[in-house]
Amino acid sequence: MKVRLDKLLVLEGLATRSQAADLVRRGVVRSKGEPLRSPAQKVDPQEILWEGEPLDPLELYLLFHKPAACVCTRSEEEGRTIYDYLPARWVRRIPPLVSVGRLDRDTTGLLFLTDQGDLNHALVAPKKHVAKLYRVALERPLREEEAESIRRGGGYLEGDPKPLLPAPLKIVAEREVELTLYEGRYHQIKRLFGGMGNKVLALHRLGFGPWKLGDLGVGEWRMLSKVEVESALAEERS
Ligand code: URA
Repeated sequence: MKVRLDKLLVLEGLATRSQAADLVRRGVVRSKGEPLRSPAQKVDPQEILWEGEPLDPLELYLLFHKPAACVCTRSEEEGRTIYDYLPARWVRRIPPLVSVGRLDRDTTGLLFLTDQGDLNHALVAPKKHVAKLYRVALERPLREEEAESIRRGGGYLEGDPKPLLPAPLKIVAEREVELTLYEGRYHQIKRLFGGMGNKVLALHRLGFGPWKLGDLGVGEWRMLSKVEVESALAEERS
Protein backbone atom coordinates (compact mmCIF):
# COMPACT_ATOMS: atom_id res chain seq x y z
CA MET A 1 0.00 0.00 0.00
CA LYS A 2 1.38 3.40 -0.99
CA VAL A 3 0.99 6.43 1.30
CA ARG A 4 1.81 10.12 0.92
CA LEU A 5 5.27 10.59 2.37
CA ASP A 6 4.46 13.54 4.67
CA LYS A 7 1.34 11.75 5.93
CA LEU A 8 3.36 8.60 6.56
CA LEU A 9 5.75 10.46 8.87
CA VAL A 10 2.80 11.81 10.85
CA LEU A 11 1.12 8.38 11.15
CA GLU A 12 4.40 6.87 12.33
CA GLY A 13 4.72 9.52 15.04
CA LEU A 14 7.96 10.83 13.53
CA ALA A 15 6.80 14.40 12.86
CA THR A 16 3.90 16.76 13.24
CA ARG A 17 2.04 17.79 10.08
CA SER A 18 3.92 21.06 9.93
CA GLN A 19 7.34 19.46 10.51
CA ALA A 20 6.84 16.61 8.03
CA ALA A 21 7.09 18.58 4.75
CA ASP A 22 10.11 20.48 6.01
CA LEU A 23 11.95 17.33 7.08
CA VAL A 24 11.29 15.71 3.71
CA ARG A 25 12.59 18.73 1.82
CA ARG A 26 15.78 18.60 3.91
CA GLY A 27 16.37 15.07 2.65
CA VAL A 28 15.99 13.21 5.96
CA VAL A 29 13.98 10.41 4.33
CA ARG A 30 15.72 8.06 1.91
CA SER A 31 14.68 5.27 -0.36
CA LYS A 32 17.02 2.98 -2.31
CA GLY A 33 19.96 5.14 -1.30
CA GLU A 34 18.46 8.42 -2.55
CA PRO A 35 16.86 11.24 -0.52
CA LEU A 36 13.14 11.74 -1.26
CA ARG A 37 12.41 15.45 -1.37
CA SER A 38 8.76 15.66 -2.37
CA PRO A 39 6.39 15.54 0.63
CA ALA A 40 3.37 14.73 -1.56
CA GLN A 41 4.86 11.73 -3.33
CA LYS A 42 3.30 8.35 -2.67
CA VAL A 43 5.70 5.80 -1.26
CA ASP A 44 5.81 2.19 -0.17
CA PRO A 45 6.51 2.39 3.61
CA GLN A 46 8.67 -0.73 3.41
CA GLU A 47 11.13 1.01 1.09
CA ILE A 48 11.71 4.01 3.33
CA LEU A 49 14.67 4.65 5.59
CA TRP A 50 14.41 7.20 8.40
CA GLU A 51 17.78 8.17 9.84
CA GLY A 52 19.10 5.06 8.14
CA GLU A 53 16.57 2.71 9.79
CA PRO A 54 13.48 1.05 8.31
CA LEU A 55 10.15 2.43 9.52
CA ASP A 56 8.02 0.67 12.10
CA PRO A 57 5.22 -1.40 10.57
CA LEU A 58 2.02 0.53 9.84
CA GLU A 59 0.15 -1.91 12.09
CA LEU A 60 1.74 -2.27 15.49
CA TYR A 61 1.35 -5.24 17.86
CA LEU A 62 3.31 -5.46 21.10
CA LEU A 63 3.70 -7.61 24.16
CA PHE A 64 4.73 -5.57 27.20
CA HIS A 65 5.75 -6.57 30.73
CA LYS A 66 4.01 -3.99 32.87
CA PRO A 67 5.95 -2.97 35.98
CA ALA A 68 4.18 -2.06 39.24
CA ALA A 69 3.44 1.60 40.01
CA CYS A 70 2.27 2.63 36.57
CA VAL A 71 -1.16 3.00 34.99
CA CYS A 72 -2.51 1.88 31.63
CA THR A 73 -4.21 5.19 30.81
CA ARG A 74 -2.56 7.91 28.77
CA SER A 75 -3.23 10.60 31.33
CA GLU A 76 -0.01 11.88 32.88
CA GLU A 77 -2.10 13.21 35.77
CA GLU A 78 -2.12 9.73 37.24
CA GLY A 79 1.68 9.58 37.42
CA ARG A 80 3.84 7.11 35.57
CA THR A 81 2.13 5.35 32.66
CA ILE A 82 2.97 2.27 30.59
CA TYR A 83 3.64 4.65 27.67
CA ASP A 84 6.65 6.06 29.52
CA TYR A 85 8.38 2.74 28.80
CA LEU A 86 7.81 2.87 25.03
CA PRO A 87 9.61 4.89 22.34
CA ALA A 88 8.12 8.41 22.20
CA ARG A 89 7.27 8.05 18.51
CA TRP A 90 4.89 5.18 19.32
CA VAL A 91 2.97 7.38 21.71
CA ARG A 92 2.46 9.92 18.92
CA ARG A 93 1.28 7.39 16.33
CA ILE A 94 -2.04 7.69 14.55
CA PRO A 95 -4.23 5.74 15.18
CA PRO A 96 -3.14 5.59 18.82
CA LEU A 97 -1.33 2.61 20.29
CA VAL A 98 -3.33 1.39 23.31
CA SER A 99 -3.37 -1.57 25.66
CA VAL A 100 -6.04 -4.19 25.11
CA GLY A 101 -7.75 -4.09 28.48
CA ARG A 102 -6.08 -2.67 31.56
CA LEU A 103 -4.24 -3.81 34.64
CA ASP A 104 -4.44 -1.96 37.95
CA ARG A 105 -1.57 0.33 38.94
CA ASP A 106 -0.07 -2.29 41.29
CA THR A 107 -0.69 -5.30 38.99
CA THR A 108 2.32 -6.52 37.02
CA GLY A 109 2.69 -8.72 33.96
CA LEU A 110 1.58 -9.21 30.42
CA LEU A 111 -0.20 -6.58 28.35
CA PHE A 112 -0.96 -6.75 24.65
CA LEU A 113 -0.97 -3.41 22.84
CA THR A 114 -2.06 -2.52 19.35
CA ASP A 115 -3.12 0.42 17.23
CA GLN A 116 -5.69 -1.77 15.47
CA GLY A 117 -9.01 -0.73 16.96
CA ASP A 118 -11.04 -3.61 15.48
CA LEU A 119 -8.72 -6.23 16.94
CA ASN A 120 -8.72 -4.42 20.28
CA HIS A 121 -12.53 -4.46 20.40
CA ALA A 122 -12.68 -8.08 19.32
CA LEU A 123 -10.28 -9.16 22.09
CA VAL A 124 -12.08 -7.31 24.88
CA ALA A 125 -15.60 -8.24 23.70
CA PRO A 126 -17.23 -10.20 26.55
CA LYS A 127 -18.48 -12.85 24.12
CA LYS A 128 -14.96 -13.65 22.93
CA HIS A 129 -13.94 -15.06 26.32
CA VAL A 130 -10.23 -14.40 25.82
CA ALA A 131 -8.27 -16.22 28.55
CA LYS A 132 -6.28 -14.14 31.04
CA LEU A 133 -3.98 -16.13 33.33
CA TYR A 134 -2.99 -14.57 36.67
CA ARG A 135 -0.83 -15.57 39.60
CA VAL A 136 -2.42 -14.28 42.79
CA ALA A 137 -0.72 -13.95 46.19
CA LEU A 138 -3.29 -14.01 48.99
CA GLU A 139 -3.29 -12.92 52.60
CA ARG A 140 -4.60 -16.26 53.83
CA PRO A 141 -4.77 -19.74 52.26
CA LEU A 142 -7.80 -20.40 50.07
CA ARG A 143 -10.17 -23.06 51.39
CA GLU A 144 -10.97 -25.94 49.07
CA GLU A 145 -14.69 -25.03 48.96
CA GLU A 146 -13.77 -21.44 48.02
CA ALA A 147 -11.49 -22.72 45.25
CA GLU A 148 -14.29 -25.00 44.02
CA SER A 149 -16.87 -22.19 43.94
CA ILE A 150 -14.53 -20.07 41.79
CA ARG A 151 -13.91 -23.01 39.44
CA ARG A 152 -17.64 -23.70 39.16
CA GLY A 153 -18.62 -20.07 38.52
CA GLY A 154 -22.11 -18.75 39.14
CA GLY A 155 -21.08 -16.60 42.13
CA TYR A 156 -21.41 -12.81 42.27
CA LEU A 157 -19.20 -9.79 42.85
CA GLU A 158 -20.66 -7.23 45.22
CA GLY A 159 -22.84 -4.73 43.35
CA ASP A 160 -22.78 -6.75 40.11
CA PRO A 161 -25.92 -8.73 39.19
CA LYS A 162 -24.23 -10.85 36.51
CA PRO A 163 -23.06 -14.32 37.61
CA LEU A 164 -19.38 -15.07 37.19
CA LEU A 165 -18.13 -17.47 34.53
CA PRO A 166 -16.33 -20.64 35.62
CA ALA A 167 -12.66 -19.83 36.19
CA PRO A 168 -10.00 -22.59 36.25
CA LEU A 169 -7.98 -22.27 39.46
CA LYS A 170 -4.91 -24.10 40.70
CA ILE A 171 -3.51 -23.78 44.21
CA VAL A 172 0.26 -23.45 43.60
CA ALA A 173 1.49 -22.62 47.12
CA GLU A 174 -0.01 -22.16 50.57
CA ARG A 175 -1.11 -18.60 49.83
CA GLU A 176 -0.79 -18.52 46.06
CA VAL A 177 -3.13 -19.51 43.24
CA GLU A 178 -3.15 -19.41 39.45
CA LEU A 179 -6.45 -18.28 38.08
CA THR A 180 -7.74 -18.03 34.51
CA LEU A 181 -10.46 -15.48 33.78
CA TYR A 182 -12.51 -15.54 30.59
CA GLU A 183 -14.04 -12.15 31.32
CA GLY A 184 -12.69 -8.84 32.54
CA ARG A 185 -14.68 -6.93 35.10
CA TYR A 186 -13.47 -3.93 37.06
CA HIS A 187 -10.98 -5.04 39.78
CA GLN A 188 -12.41 -8.52 39.27
CA ILE A 189 -9.80 -10.55 41.15
CA LYS A 190 -9.49 -8.19 44.10
CA ARG A 191 -13.28 -8.06 44.45
CA LEU A 192 -13.60 -11.82 44.06
CA PHE A 193 -11.22 -12.65 46.91
CA GLY A 194 -12.28 -9.59 48.91
CA GLY A 195 -15.83 -11.00 48.86
CA MET A 196 -14.46 -14.13 50.59
CA GLY A 197 -12.86 -12.08 53.34
CA ASN A 198 -9.43 -12.58 51.81
CA LYS A 199 -7.03 -10.02 50.36
CA VAL A 200 -4.92 -9.94 47.19
CA LEU A 201 -1.36 -9.04 48.18
CA ALA A 202 0.13 -9.28 44.68
CA LEU A 203 -1.31 -9.83 41.23
CA HIS A 204 0.71 -10.80 38.19
CA ARG A 205 -0.59 -11.62 34.71
CA LEU A 206 1.21 -14.55 33.07
CA GLY A 207 -0.87 -14.96 29.94
CA PHE A 208 -3.23 -13.12 27.66
CA GLY A 209 -5.04 -15.06 24.92
CA PRO A 210 -2.45 -17.13 23.03
CA TRP A 211 0.51 -15.19 24.49
CA LYS A 212 2.63 -15.93 27.55
CA LEU A 213 4.88 -13.53 29.46
CA GLY A 214 7.79 -15.97 29.22
CA ASP A 215 11.15 -14.35 29.84
CA LEU A 216 10.17 -10.83 28.80
CA GLY A 217 11.88 -8.56 31.35
CA VAL A 218 10.02 -6.04 33.51
CA GLY A 219 9.37 -2.85 31.51
CA GLU A 220 10.42 -4.55 28.27
CA TRP A 221 8.37 -5.01 25.11
CA ARG A 222 8.47 -7.31 22.13
CA MET A 223 7.03 -6.44 18.75
CA LEU A 224 4.88 -9.06 17.01
CA SER A 225 4.29 -9.13 13.28
CA LYS A 226 0.79 -9.12 11.88
CA VAL A 227 1.37 -12.68 10.62
CA GLU A 228 2.45 -13.84 14.10
CA VAL A 229 -0.64 -12.28 15.66
CA GLU A 230 -3.01 -13.76 13.12
CA SER A 231 -1.52 -17.21 13.30
CA ALA A 232 -1.45 -17.23 17.14
CA LEU A 233 -5.12 -16.22 17.25
CA ALA A 234 -6.09 -18.73 14.55
CA GLU A 235 -4.25 -21.53 16.34
CA GLU A 236 -5.98 -20.70 19.60
CA ARG A 237 -9.41 -20.80 17.93
CA SER A 238 -8.77 -24.19 16.25
N1 URA B 1 -8.31 -8.08 38.52
C1 URA B 1 -7.96 -7.08 39.36
O1 URA B 1 -8.51 -6.93 40.45
N2 URA B 1 -6.96 -6.25 38.97
C2 URA B 1 -6.29 -6.38 37.79
O2 URA B 1 -5.38 -5.59 37.49
C3 URA B 1 -6.66 -7.43 36.93
C4 URA B 1 -7.69 -8.26 37.32
